[in-house]
Amino acid sequence: MTFYSKKVMNHFLNPRNVGYIKNADGIGEVGNPICGDMMTFYIKVSNNRIIDVKFQTFGCGAAIAVSSMVSEMVLGKTLEEVQCLTNDDVAQALDGLPSNKIHCSNLGADALHKAIENYKSKHQNDNILKK
Ligand code: FES
Repeated sequence: MTFYSKKVMNHFLNPRNVGYIKNADGIGEVGNPICGDMMTFYIKVSNNRIIDVKFQTFGCGAAIAVSSMVSEMVLGKTLEEVQCLTNDDVAQALDGLPSNKIHCSNLGADALHKAIENYKSKHQNDNILKK
């Protein structure tokens, strides 16, 4: 039997920032090879900070809780601060995950990092076009 922390249950039952952002500045999608679940993050960036974040997760309760926690942890942070966020940080912020659910936490930070990479690649292209 799997026991979740109160924080995991709270974020699973009341996930924050679910949805998508039309005209997002960056989009990051990852899949979990172990179970096939998918997670997509959408970000809006202004002055090098994440000013809006939304996610869509097709996965287990732990993956939804991880997505929700990541979205709260990164809102208002600089891109550099977010790039330092690890999957372990997210699992700790949720007061841990059961050992058989640790792999579920491996999507959250990775999806966010991908969204930032996507934003940066678009931004670089903008700069090249302006020159
Ligand atoms: Fe797939 Fe948790 S079982 S992410």
